[in-house]
Amino acid sequence: MKKIGVVGAGHVGLVTAGCFASMGHSVICADNDSAKISQIRDFRMPFYEPGLEDLVRQTVGCGRLSFTTSISELALGSEVIFIAVGTPPADGGGADLSYVENVTVEIARALVDTERKHGDPVYRLIVEKSTVPVLTGEWVKRTLALLAPTGIEFDVAANPEFLREGNAIADFMNPDRIVVGVESDRAKRIFEEIYSPMEAPIVVTDVKSAEIIKHASNSFLALKISYINAISRICEKVGADISKVSEGMGYDRRIGKDFLDAGIGWGGSCFPKDVSAFIKIAEDLGCPFNLLKEVERINREQRLLVLRKARDLLWNLRGKPVSVYGLSFKPDTDDIRQSPAVEIVRLLLAEGARVRCYDPQAMENVRRELPDATCCDDPYEAARNSSLLIFLTAWKEFESLDFGRIKNLVSMPYIIDGRNFLNAAELEKYGFIYRGIGKNT
Ligand code: UDX
Ligand code: UDX
Repeated sequence: MKKIGVVGAGHVGLVTAGCFASMGHSVICADNDSAKISQIRDFRMPFYEPGLEDLVRQTVGCGRLSFTTSISELALGSEVIFIAVGTPPADGGGADLSYVENVTVEIARALVDTERKHGDPVYRLIVEKSTVPVLTGEWVKRTLALLAPTGIEFDVAANPEFLREGNAIADFMNPDRIVVGVESDRAKRIFEEIYSPMEAPIVVTDVKSAEIIKHASNSFLALKISYINAISRICEKVGADISKVSEGMGYDRRIGKDFLDAGIGWGGSCFPKDVSAFIKIAEDLGCPFNLLKEVERINREQRLLVLRKARDLLWNLRGKPVSVYGLSFKPDTDDIRQSPAVEIVRLLLAEGARVRCYDPQAMENVRRELPDATCCDDPYEAARNSSLLIFLTAWKEFESLDFGRIKNLVSMPYIIDGRNFLNAAELEKYGFIYRGIGKNT
């Protein structure tokens, strides 16, 4: 059992803290947003993530997880400190590392208190959990060396996460692999102890390689999605079916069926910023990553496909009531950060459409983000008098909507399926005119 500190109680930090505690470690989680900390202490989660509330209740209940706003308190009591604060996109495409820098400085200063209170030499392992561009570890190390007291021995490591929102706890507890970038045997042994309850292979490497593994993995997944989206356009031209093309490709173990679903493309708080940060760091290092620029371009264009289909069906959009189902960037999350669906609603509003929105979880965020759209709390209300239904996030509950009832509510029988997840044949039986992405319809 290790004493672990996690700085940042966001989508990554809170899941990481809860999972480490459930593995038997003693964890303290800090965040500089005091409102967020008191919300979590009341077991009100700051975002929707299946299973997270139960995980936090259980681990707090058995005394293995606690929360604070004080980095000093965290540093004093933790041998291993994970940095899991935001690394949002900066202007110019790179990652904004100012939060990582601030927290590193706070940790260094906190270690001064730690040394004073401990007296004897203290060791701390500082770990990058957040997704950061390669060479960030060098900066963390320099900052600590400059500011941390001499009586503190420390190592810097990288332990990137591969959590998918909506599936984060399962992804943390059953990873395909654990990646640790270390600079000493002592750090390596600590990670082996931390992850000893897990079966997954541990890839041990240096800090820079670990940092690159994360960016390279996310960028490859984005590339795979843009690849199948590019092929979906060829399918549309000849009337082929992208879902069958993807199925036929995916049986090849070297290709794999996952992340081969065509649609309105990728979004979220990771892929867009990780791809652009990887492009930027490559550029800064003198090796421009043009392939990834093409991956971004294809992804941007996928949003426009939906507008084109809407115009094909409605001719003019101005003044037309259009209903959008699914605003989160993917199912099973309320996260609308960089959501392709939100971008499409903005484009529809810009063309003068009167947009109504419905999402099973994200409506609170949607009300804040899209004040010009009409927000509905009921999927049937959202359909009333609508001239076009556009499904942009493949929420399971949409598949069991009563489309016979919806058909009697709408003014025009048009449906665009931005994620190719609805049953076209069934919808056509109800008299709808169905349009998918890369489909021969
Ligand atoms: C973010 C990045 O998006 C992801 O790529 C990275 O791997 C981890 O950080 P996420 O957890 O979604 O992931 O960020 P967010 O939900 O914004 O949480 C970050 C938390 O850090 C916030 O709660 C914020 O209050 C906190 N924070 C930020 C601090 O506690 N101190 C700071 O100085 C800055
Ligand atoms: C991703 C990575 O999967 C995860 O390993 C990393 O830690 C963080 O970033 P996440 O962003 O939560 O996770 O969602 P993910 O399930 O990867 O989907 C990302 C985007 O790709 C979503 O907008 C989704 O709709 C889209 N997507 C995914 C497709 O368009 N097609 C697919 O086949 C799969």
